[in-house]
Amino acid sequence: MAIIYDAASKTLSLHTQNTTYQMQIGDMGHLFHLYFGRRVDAASLAYRIIPSDRGFSPNPFEARYHRELSLDTLPQEYAGANSGDFRVPALDLIGDNGAVGTDLRYLRHEIRAGKYALSGLPAAFADAGEAETLSITLSDAATGLEVELLYGVFEDADMLTRAAIIRNNGASAVTLNRVGSLCLDIPFGKWALLHLHGRHCMERNAERVPLMRGIQTVSSRRGASSHHHNPFVALVEPTATETRGECVGILPLYSGNHRTDVEVDQTSSVRVVSGINPDTFSWYLKPGDSFVSPEVALCWTDGGLGDMSLRLHRFIRRHIIRSPWKDRRRPVLINSWEAMLFDFDIDRLMAFAKQAAALGVEMLVLDDGWFGARNSDLEGLGDWTPNPAKLPGGLKHLSDAVHGLGMKFGLWIEPEMVNELSALYAAHPDWALTVPGRNPAFGRNQLVLDMGRREVVEHLFKVFSALLREDGIDYIKWDMNRNMTDVYSRALPPERQREASHRYMLGVYDLLDRLTRAFPEVLFEGCAGGGGRFDAGMLYYTPQIWCSDDTDAIERVAIQLGTSVAYPVSAMGAHVSVCPNQQTGRNVPFGVRGIVAMSGTFGYELDPAQLTEAERAQIRTQIDRFHRWYDVIQFGDCHRLTDVDAPGDYAAWEYVSQDGSRALLNLVTLHTRANCPGAHVRLRGLDPGAMYEIDEICYEGCVNASMDSPLGGALGGRVLSGASLMYAGFTLPPLMGDYPGAQVSFTRVDAGGTR
Ligand code: DGJ
Repeated sequence: MAIIYDAASKTLSLHTQNTTYQMQIGDMGHLFHLYFGRRVDAASLAYRIIPSDRGFSPNPFEARYHRELSLDTLPQEYAGANSGDFRVPALDLIGDNGAVGTDLRYLRHEIRAGKYALSGLPAAFADAGEAETLSITLSDAATGLEVELLYGVFEDADMLTRAAIIRNNGASAVTLNRVGSLCLDIPFGKWALLHLHGRHCMERNAERVPLMRGIQTVSSRRGASSHHHNPFVALVEPTATETRGECVGILPLYSGNHRTDVEVDQTSSVRVVSGINPDTFSWYLKPGDSFVSPEVALCWTDGGLGDMSLRLHRFIRRHIIRSPWKDRRRPVLINSWEAMLFDFDIDRLMAFAKQAAALGVEMLVLDDGWFGARNSDLEGLGDWTPNPAKLPGGLKHLSDAVHGLGMKFGLWIEPEMVNELSALYAAHPDWALTVPGRNPAFGRNQLVLDMGRREVVEHLFKVFSALLREDGIDYIKWDMNRNMTDVYSRALPPERQREASHRYMLGVYDLLDRLTRAFPEVLFEGCAGGGGRFDAGMLYYTPQIWCSDDTDAIERVAIQLGTSVAYPVSAMGAHVSVCPNQQTGRNVPFGVRGIVAMSGTFGYELDPAQLTEAERAQIRTQIDRFHRWYDVIQFGDCHRLTDVDAPGDYAAWEYVSQDGSRALLNLVTLHTRANCPGAHVRLRGLDPGAMYEIDEICYEGCVNASMDSPLGGALGGRVLSGASLMYAGFTLPPLMGDYPGAQVSFTRVDAGGTR
């Protein structure tokens, strides 16, 4: 049993293999949080919380003569507002009579086998026996509201999930102003906040900041989880490294406006509240209706950032991504965007595809520009019929021809948007989000469709299901290229206007759900101007997401390693593009571009006809290596060997196959220095008692002449123990040149040297 109720102490404990999460129902029915950390099988850990009288911290009515009992100072499981706790609330609302807040008391709980699901929202799932559910219902007497707190316990995965459902069982409506998915009080310890910030073309940079007294916030009001602030956050010990230190990882499964507040209170207790961003949200909840919060997954470890990431990667791969493609080999693709932008026709495309097929590329992806009057980003969005001047025979003719080359065929779409210059906008101007009487703001010359409207989703489902049914499409790149402004739905009454951005996300999820269920064989890749919606909510539907519009390999090292703090490599779209790079103007060796793109779903974003013969040969080599190392990279464990939030002169990371028999070390020099020692790393995840042969060393972009051969240096062919490689470490010779790099593969051998 992973979930235990101890009637004597009225505690509820959630146990995973290595962690315990404990709550207690107080004498007056308040639900207190007792502990989240290393597994402890004690029935009650209430002894560690010592109530004490603190001035200006009020006491519940029944406890008014016990001044030490205050909701303001005791750790809460799901804090309400306006009833004695002045910290950030999880639930904030206003009743029809204008009364603000709630006084939440325990009503009942239930322990169930299996993992709960959330209607209309992405949620982690489990096979039989993999998870249990705890449901705790709290109630608020004044409004008649019931708050169901849901906990999913994944014992083997060492992960928990949380969500809340608010049911209005009262006689009048309430307006929900904030519904946290998670409220977590951590009364002790010293913590820093690790978060993933960025901008377009530079997403998910890992930053660690000390917690200040007061409130620190990570949020988006852009209508998407955003390039600027990923919803994932972690509380980590300030000195936590990749291999040591306590970390609490918090992973929202939500792709819209999110907010996580981290408050350090008067007693140095830390409260985290995470959920839909209340700045842009409210929900009018009529009697009999209910509201479901998005889900948040969370984990605790004292094994450092690396262990936290491993848990999250495995969890996302097994329990969040639901596409059958998660366990399949994905084709090496070539995408038309950076090579051709809008400038192509059937002949150019076919020449491009033929060249790519000859190099071993397995799928052609036709990006933006194939439909309507789309010859620039000024017009055509919304008109999803092939442009007859570019594709006279239509999409089926093209996909047949591509299939004839032995390649798969993929297509770009941007369902959620419309150009003012389009037949769709002319027919349905009210389908776009615009505020009556005000000219809307444009982003990339486009407007945002009101995805909260049933008829918009119906229309899009009809259009794209016909396309997928009839046109021989194996892959879809689902793009979204602007953030939301002028959020006003013509379909909602005034008191519901602040529901529009969440309703938008529910509409997007609905469309994704229906299309991915109807076409399970199609590989979907998410995208939002690169990685502007790279989150666990989208991964539920699309097993991979284009990581960034920045394809510069050196920038990509930071972006992809930052992304890897929470998300697995199998989810990261990464391509080799041309140099000088289109976003930075930088030159990075072709081979190093390959190392970085291979640390993702791998593909190309260039015109093979423009390459030198040597570069074409390198593509063949890269694809060959990627195939040989595929299982290690995509299904193995990823270990960062250098600090993700404090980059040095080089970045190193490693993949280890699930059975520990193969490993691949990747290293990219970020700053070449004169007279410096070679890079030294300690490998991880190997079997210390086993022997490993260094079977391939591939130096890329090094000008040191002696390193040119694939088994160069004196290291190739050596057999070393896992203990040597992990504890004594591994040293590469100094690499010289502009951004040189290396890949080194290791294979376990038995005493006789056999693999
Ligand atoms: C933004 C994407 O990130 C790019 O890869 C490309 O698909 C363009 N949109 C096309 O408009």
